Amino acid sequence: MDEVTVKKYYDDYVIGCYRKEDFVFVKGRGPWLWDINDKKYLDFFPGWAVSGLGHCPERVVKAVSSQARKLMHVANNYYIDVQALCARRLIEISFDGKVFFCNSGAEANEAAIKLSRLYGAKTSRYKIISMKNSFHGRTLATVTMTGQEKYSAPFKPLPEGFAYAEFNNISSLKDCVDEKTIAVIIEPIQGEGGINVASKEYLKQVREFCDEKDILLIFDEVQTGMGRTGNYFAFQHYGVQPDIMTLAKTLGGGFPIGAMVARKGLCDLLVPGTHASTFGGNPLACSAAIAVIETIQQEKLLENVRNLSGWFIDQLKNLQGRFSVIKEIRGIGFMLGMELAVNGASFVNRCRSNGLLLNCTHDTVIRIMPPLGISKTLLEKGLKIIEKSLEEEFSQ
Ligand SMILES: Cc1ncc(COP(=O)(O)O)c(C=O)c1O
Repeated sequence: MDEVTVKKYYDDYVIGCYRKEDFVFVKGRGPWLWDINDKKYLDFFPGWAVSGLGHCPERVVKAVSSQARKLMHVANNYYIDVQALCARRLIEISFDGKVFFCNSGAEANEAAIKLSRLYGAKTSRYKIISMKNSFHGRTLATVTMTGQEKYSAPFKPLPEGFAYAEFNNISSLKDCVDEKTIAVIIEPIQGEGGINVASKEYLKQVREFCDEKDILLIFDEVQTGMGRTGNYFAFQHYGVQPDIMTLAKTLGGGFPIGAMVARKGLCDLLVPGTHASTFGGNPLACSAAIAVIETIQQEKLLENVRNLSGWFIDQLKNLQGRFSVIKEIRGIGFMLGMELAVNGASFVNRCRSNGLLLNCTHDTVIRIMPPLGISKTLLEKGLKIIEKSLEEEFSQ
């Protein structure tokens, strides 16, 4: 299909939920994407954090192709060998508990909401506190839990039982909690909200407070998880373990999968009839997730992020010293934000036309999330494009 036909079919047949950039990408490999005209782009925001291992990671491609020839789908009322192995691998790298599989981040958070409510049933508690500026998904419950009214306002009436505290502010959380509160959900680093990093002290205080009040602590690691910060999960930087953790995005290396991990003593509240997903834990998805974990281990991707992140942040801070339009560089590992003093859309467009793909969130924050295995040489190449684009956009 040529570019004009693709766009025409979109106009005619695809519901326009997404603001479209003017690109048709047809091929990807590692940190590179090719458009329909065979122009090559360096991708520092691969698949909105889904393609954390880069595009078409070799082990994932092999695992999915070989699984597809064996068994593509079997229902969850049977035992599924790769699902069992995938759960074991996830528990090995996270914490003692069990896994519920689904297909997306929103579904993982829905599962967390339902499990919290089951936990609260004995004491008639149901309310969940989320953070202002958070993002937890687009289903009716998760969009309500998302602490940004612009996403939920058009869909009123919204489900009951959600309240919003200031991020990184323990007093605000304490003020929100009442006798009906059963859980608190936090992204350790807010992604869509503008790469806002929770402080260590704050998460420790939240954990203590939740323990004191018998309130569940949920970490939404849909964006921060699977190596993005240089640990498998962001909570491992903080020494604060959640009761429930939700995952998706990089977990499947490009294949759709979501998961909720719940700690021992809590996970078994979900029994037959309480929750389900037809596709959840599908053999193809689980074979992809196992391959993602093996790739992270065998290619030493956590080490790569840790080795290069400090240097990369320093280079971005050097640019901040030269360009007053950069207000702040923040983040952990390869989950980085460059906050501008102006709206970032035009800068992102400039980078794109110079061959680098980035994202702007929260109007002014440029999200920089290169694939975990990227080389220093390619980070340098990306930095050169950022520098050139800053010069073109912001030098008089
Ligand atoms: C932190 C976080 N949670 C949940 C979601 C929703 O995930 P999905 O789009 O897979 O439903 C996202 C998506 O961007 C996210 O960043």
